[in-house]
Amino acid sequence: MSQVFDVLVIGAGPGGYIAAIRAAQLGFKVACAEANPYADPKGEPRLGGTCLNVGCIPSKALLASSEEFEKISHHVANHGISVGNVSIDIKKMLARKDEIVTKMTGGINFLFKKNKVTSLKGHASFVGKGADGYQIKITGKDAGTVSAKNVIIATGSKARHLPGIPVDNVLVCDNEGALQFASLPKRLGVIGAGVIGLELGSVWRRVGSQVTVLEALPTFLGACDEGIAKEAKKIFTKQGLDMHLGVKIESVKTDKKGVVVAYQDNAGKPQKLECDRLIVSVGRVPNTEGLNLQAVQIKTDERGFIPINDHTCATVAPGIYAIGDVVRGPMLAHKAEDEGVLVAELLAGQKPHIDYNCIPWVIYTDPEIAWVGKTEQQLKAEGRSYKVGQFPFMANGRALGMDRADGFVKILADTKTDEVLGVHIIGPNASDLIAEAALAMEFKAAAEDIARVCHPHPSLSEVMREAALATDQRALNM
Ligand code: FAD
Ligand code: NAI
Repeated sequence: MSQVFDVLVIGAGPGGYIAAIRAAQLGFKVACAEANPYADPKGEPRLGGTCLNVGCIPSKALLASSEEFEKISHHVANHGISVGNVSIDIKKMLARKDEIVTKMTGGINFLFKKNKVTSLKGHASFVGKGADGYQIKITGKDAGTVSAKNVIIATGSKARHLPGIPVDNVLVCDNEGALQFASLPKRLGVIGAGVIGLELGSVWRRVGSQVTVLEALPTFLGACDEGIAKEAKKIFTKQGLDMHLGVKIESVKTDKKGVVVAYQDNAGKPQKLECDRLIVSVGRVPNTEGLNLQAVQIKTDERGFIPINDHTCATVAPGIYAIGDVVRGPMLAHKAEDEGVLVAELLAGQKPHIDYNCIPWVIYTDPEIAWVGKTEQQLKAEGRSYKVGQFPFMANGRALGMDRADGFVKILADTKTDEVLGVHIIGPNASDLIAEAALAMEFKAAAEDIARVCHPHPSLSEVMREAALATDQRALNM
């Protein structure tokens, strides 16, 4: 017998599982179908999507291990601490990461049970519309047909591969293989100096790989504020990341010795990069294959995304919504989560709203890069009159005490109204510090509002306050 739900969510990544939980909290009868390409080592299906299985969580676990290694190897000597030969067991580092993933993905099973969300293990595809709403076929462990009045598509994204460059996830890897290297590659090549390339490139550099990054664009970190991108390039180059911008990849060949990338450098000269492993991180593409969207008259756009109403995430099919990486906007877990909550609350008759300008970005390099709102180049292009306040971590006692004084906070505020228009950070704990800026911008705060709030001393957050004061040339400690 076919089961009937108020809401069926397709995909149990951060968009889907959060949408399912919020809808259940609001009293709906909810199911969440997950195709589960990410089985655990015993073959058991795992919830959590890209983020928990092969994205945010495992990458940050490796990041933390590699940071500890680098700290002990190179930085504790400044504190008067001497250590003998430091070594790292890559297998143990990966096992720790896998344990964290297992804990987190298992946590979603618990949350589904707690909130009475029916978890359907299997691939979902649309069949059409019947008396009980949309009919969806599930293939896999929980095979059958279910019906739902409302459907939330949260099928996420997968790595984009380059034509003619097959990814085997052993020698040539996307994010999945790059989180699983069985041994340390002596020489690691990375195609794409974006978020994944820089984060994972940094992980393997810290534990001893010699990393070369090949980037097609002539500019570095084009989405960042130019001042931050310039500082980041300087710091990463000093750390030993060998970056080549403006290159054109010609071919990638593998043999027993490893990988050879043939490319043209920015002067058009032919070059070769020989490496033991290669990460291809050139963006991600939305997952819509196999959903049979034509059965519900939904057409994807020219880039494969599902078109939606920008405010409600509604598709052209009444009662069908799409959220997260499968729709426009930044491919970020917290953006997917917020859209999941928004749709559930809309279905319950509430009036939720997302201000996409206030979604923070973080690049988990060392130092971290984080921002919210507009960059200086965007404000210039808009012809907006703005002022800049910048303050370095070098002038902050806590940062010096931590031996983490690289970087700065930069605040952009409207010249006339003082409204905060953008906050950009490169420095220690930027991922946490940016939350204050996101809150300020959500409340349309002025730079003066941040400056008048009492910040704890000594703390990194004082740099935020000083940058706010600096928009009016009133910084106190510089
Ligand atoms: P996904 O997490 O991709 O989940 C979609 C789920 O749908 C998958 O489990 C898939 O199996 C399932 N599915 C697909 N089709 C079907 C179907 N037909 N039937 C049933 N199930 C289906 N973002 C951050 O904010 N911070 C980070 O630090 C960060 N780090 C990242 C690191 C890496 C290496 C990568 C690759 C990504 C990272 N991201 C990060 C991005 C983040 O992972 C994504 O933005 C987020 O996972 C998107 O959530 P989602 O729910 O839209 O989709
Ligand atoms: P990206 O879009 O961040 O970067 C891709 C880079 O590859 C760009 O700089 C692009 O110019 C370059 N590129 C494209 N084609 C190329 C080619 N043929 N040769 C050389 N370079 C080429 O994509 P990435 O790093 O794959 O990450 C995908 C997405 O995942 C991110 O955009 C982000 O949304 C999400 N993510 C978020 C993280 C976070 O929030 N900290 C961490 C990791 C991923």
